[in-house]
Amino acid sequence: MPSSVVNVFVFSALFVCNFVHAGVHVHNVQPFDYRSNFNLDRNDIQIVKNKKENVQSPVNEQFPSAVLFGRTCGGTIISPTWILSAAHCTLFTPGRDVLAGTNNTENGTGLRHRIKRLVVHPRFSVGPYWLNANRFNIKQVGARWDFLLAELESPLPLDGKTMVAADLDDRARLPPGEQVGYAGFGADRHGGVMREDMHAMDLEILADEDCSDLLEYDGADMICTKGRAPRYDSACNGDSGSGLIRNGKVLGVASWVENDALECKNGARVVFSRVASARDWIKQVTKV
Ligand SMILES: *[C@@H]1O[C@H](CO)[C@@H](O)[C@H](O)[C@H]1NC(C)=O
Ligand SMILES: *[C@@H]1O[C@H](CO)[C@@H](O)[C@H](O)[C@H]1NC(C)=O
Repeated sequence: MPSSVVNVFVFSALFVCNFVHAGVHVHNVQPFDYRSNFNLDRNDIQIVKNKKENVQSPVNEQFPSAVLFGRTCGGTIISPTWILSAAHCTLFTPGRDVLAGTNNTENGTGLRHRIKRLVVHPRFSVGPYWLNANRFNIKQVGARWDFLLAELESPLPLDGKTMVAADLDDRARLPPGEQVGYAGFGADRHGGVMREDMHAMDLEILADEDCSDLLEYDGADMICTKGRAPRYDSACNGDSGSGLIRNGKVLGVASWVENDALECKNGARVVFSRVASARDWIKQVTKV
């Protein structure tokens, strides 16, 4: 079997989040397995857990704009009829519908709405780090302008609690250290399957300089982030397309992760497409 076929298989099976590959890729992080990486003892873990459980509402109510896009990506509701996701999500799966308003993809809760139109950012590109360049006739190296807009056949019945449209956060400058996060259904390890239950990841904004060592990073259309203590969350296969959220507003779209996608490990920096850089295009397409 030619290696390109193997690559395609691997990517489609895992997905798409991994779009980027050497240097880029979305990989994951074992979000809840911080013990192995950080050596916390049982008491520490218990404290962290209790604290979380006491102060936090269900993850889908913290991230009511988060949806499952197709079968292998996340997305963000930005209006009753428009979902924002990652362009690379269309490379391996057809994305025919979204599942909104739920924290579980398998138990019949939430609403599935069909997509009638997909609009990829006109400047979107990917390179041979992600894919076999010859097979896909891709000339450039790098994943840029990784934005996708999906128009739904019928409007979502937004309820203000589990299904909400996120406003766009188009601030051009984001202060390093600002606390942000995303929610999705991605795998908990490289090559794993999508998780049924929605999970949330705690991240913070990094300065562009803090990602300048990443081969394909460019602050013009990307936002650099890393996980916060104590878990040092990252991202994994299937988290692609998920919205980077602060105070209910969406400022980025999960695009790739540092390192190769052969591991999804805590602490790996996560790169999001920068909503501010595509603000005019989003408005032009969606009127939002
Ligand atoms: C799932 O979502 C429902 C509706 O928001 C909520 O009542 C429930 O507590 C959530 N379950 C979990 C495990 O967060
Ligand atoms: C669906 O899953 C969510 C999250 O695990 C849970 O809170 C909810 O009770 C489940 N609903 C049903 C109908 O099983």
